[in-house]
This record gives sequence, structure tokens and C-alpha cells, in this order.
Amino acid sequence: MVEGIHVKPPEVVSGRRAAPGRAARVLCDPLVTERSSRLPGFYRLSLEERRQLIAERAGLDVDELVAIVGAGGLDATTADKVVENVIGTYGLPFGVASNVRVNGRDVLVPMVVEEPSVIAAASNAARMVRGSGGFVATATGSVMTTQVQLSGVRDAAAARVALEARAAELLAAGAAAVEGLVARGGGPREIEVRDLGEGFLVVHVHVDCLDAMGANLVNSVAEALGPEIARLAGGQLGLRILTNLSDRRRVRVTCRVATTELAEAEGPAVADAIVLAARFAELDPYRAATHNKGIMNGVDAVVLATGNDFRAVEAGAHAYAARSGRYAPLSRWWRDGDALAGELELPLALGTVGGTLRVHPGARLALALLGVSRSTELAMIAASVGLASNLAALRALATEGIQRGHMSLHARSVAAAAGATGDEVERVARSIAEAGAITLEGAARALSALRDAGAGRTPP
Ligand code: MEV
Repeated sequence: MVEGIHVKPPEVVSGRRAAPGRAARVLCDPLVTERSSRLPGFYRLSLEERRQLIAERAGLDVDELVAIVGAGGLDATTADKVVENVIGTYGLPFGVASNVRVNGRDVLVPMVVEEPSVIAAASNAARMVRGSGGFVATATGSVMTTQVQLSGVRDAAAARVALEARAAELLAAGAAAVEGLVARGGGPREIEVRDLGEGFLVVHVHVDCLDAMGANLVNSVAEALGPEIARLAGGQLGLRILTNLSDRRRVRVTCRVATTELAEAEGPAVADAIVLAARFAELDPYRAATHNKGIMNGVDAVVLATGNDFRAVEAGAHAYAARSGRYAPLSRWWRDGDALAGELELPLALGTVGGTLRVHPGARLALALLGVSRSTELAMIAASVGLASNLAALRALATEGIQRGHMSLHARSVAAAAGATGDEVERVARSIAEAGAITLEGAARALSALRDAGAGRTPP
């Protein structure tokens, strides 16, 4: 249940209620069931048909959906209440990834991203994984950590004893600073003292933030406890702020892909090539950075769509990737009999309540599409899309390379930039991609040739 968005119960969603035309044909595919994430041929539908189909499938009111996405998810008057010095809003494409199945449940995944091919690639990889049952994900919970910095601590060992002896009182005082959270079942759980040397002592307060991202909550706890912590430790109070390395809020997702899904006859060889590509990332931080960027293509798109703080997620992911002292890939891939198996683990501090979600209709729509209310569920889906993106990238890189697929999708934006509209976009894109001339000039030439042919004119 997402505030402000009307969702019909699943039983009233069915293929028979679909709009007539191509959208209805997609719904009537025998593989497609109610609320299924299978959307064969979705990309061929018009914008209106896609909106209609997604609304049908998710049980949303199509007019409501159109009103929200049509306004770019956020109007300027609302945006003016979100940040400062607003002069307008800034749009990004809002798409839906298909085929995603997580822990046995189909999910339509909203993705906000400017890069062509990210949504198509994630949907394609999710289809391969779906054949083996989909993604299996677990989450460690929703505990965020805040730090209280002390400096000039003369006797770190004595300070630790003093702080640990008063842990219960400190937790109670922290709870008083976040009464609402405590009333909902969350709150401070544990105090941890870390000696950084040079007189620096840092106190971690671990707080269960439930379905909130929790930055404001944990920062309030740190500010409330800071003076007492400094008094007990006998040091000078420094920073009181959360850590984005939220390693008590991790998600782990695994998947298996039959090699026949990767390629028909060459499936086993493609699987082996993907394993070698993943090993490359383990051996080389330069490659690991790009490998992880491919994962974050999927994760960030879901994070953005749902109104979450992508900078916090990025900071946490990369700090986690470097936790051994050497920057490493967040995922690994290996052969498992006649399948390829993959695993991804990363911290994901996401919220399904509070923050931007209070005011952002686009983010609320995204949550309603997903049908999630728990932050852990959202994190498991975002991580699954991250693993799907990683699989798609590695498969392309280990076989034909990334450019062909990339460029044919890029051709569509170039065609649109040259003025192509409706069906012309696909036709111009195909023409410039086949000619290997994906430039604005090439698209303008192809478009004028197409229009001339339509008007029965022969080009000069
Ligand atoms: C491009 O956005 C992402 C890739 O570079 C990821 C990777 O190299 O694994 C294709």
C-alpha cells in the first residue's frame, strides 16, 4: 500500500481486461499470467500502449499513472518544497524492466536511467535467470550505523570500559531521541567502541531503521548521545554522522543460468568466458571498477526510480568493495554443473517511507509498481537487477562485445534527435545502424530519404 496511489487487488487484474490491440496481445501470451513480469514484445508497443499495459498488469489506474509519468514524476511546485533555489524539474527516462522474478515473486521493476540498453539488458538477463527459477535474495535487516567521533582520548582502554558499562543507558537515551521509530518497533540496538589510535575513539550506534532509509534518524541519535559519550570517554566531541558503509544492512542475491540460455550450442563456452571475465575483475581493480559500474547501472536505476539516495548507495557499495584493503568486484561468477552461477553482495540503505517519498509522486508510483512496502524487499529487488545488469554486461563483453547492442539502441536516440517521430524512429535507427553511420547528419539524411520515399519523391 503506497500512500496516494490506488492499487486494485490482484484478482481483478487479468488479460481479459486489457486494452484492445497490441497491448492485449502481449497480455494474452500463454506465458503471461496475472501480475506476471513477462512482457514479450513490450518494447514494440507505443508509449500509450505500454502505459496501459503496465497499469493493467500492476492494478494501477491508468489515468493516475499517465498523470504522474506524463508530468515527469514531479511538478515544479512540489519540487520547490524538496530542495532550495528551484527553477524547475529535470527529466530522465522512466522505464520498466521485465522478466524479473525474486524469491518466487514476479516484479515489474521501475528503472530511471539515461543510458540506452541498461533496461533492455537487465530484462534480457532476467529472462535467462527466470528459466532457472529467478533470483534468490536475502537481506541482513535494516540496521544503520551512526558514528560519534572523539579526539584527545588519553586512555582509550579506560574509555572503552566506561562506555561499555553505560551502554544500556546510552541506548535508552538514543531511543528517546527517536520515539516515533521506537514506537514502530525500531530504534538503537547496540553500541560499539572502536579505537582508531592517535587518541581517536569512535563510537558506533547501530539503529534499526525499519523501512526508512534512516539518515535523519541515526544522525539525531548521534547528536543526542554525543555530549554524554564525550563525557564518559573523557575526550573532545567531534563529528556525529552516519556512515554510508552500512554493512549491517546488506543484501545477498544469487542466481543460476542454464548454459543453454546463454547461447544455444556455444552456451558452455560463453559461461566459461563469463567466469574468466569475472576473475579478471578479482585480479585487477581497474577492471573491478568497471565491473561494479555495470552492477550499479541496474541498482542505481531502481534506487533513483524509488526516490532513494543514490549517492549514499554508491558510497556504500564502493567502500564495501574495498573492505579487504583492495578494491574488488561486488559479484562473483562460477560454473555449477551445466549452469553458470552468480552471487552479489552489497550494502543497500533504501527506504520505502519518509524522505523524498513523502512528496514525490513518481517515486510513490515506482513503489506501487513494485508492490513492496518493506525496505528489505526493495533492496533485494534492486540487488537482483544489479546482478542481472552485471550478467548482461559480462555476456556481451565475453562474446560479441558491448558496442553492437549499445550502438543500435543509441541509434534510436540519435534518430529522435534528428527529428524522427513515431515509427520513423525505429526505421531511421535501423538504417543508420546498418550503415554504420550513427551520427546526427546520418540520421537527418536517412530521415529525409524516408520521408521522400513516403511522399513518392526521388532524392536528388
Ligand atoms: C557500461 O555502462 C557498463 C559496462 O562497462 C560494465 C562492464 O564493463 O562490466 C559494460
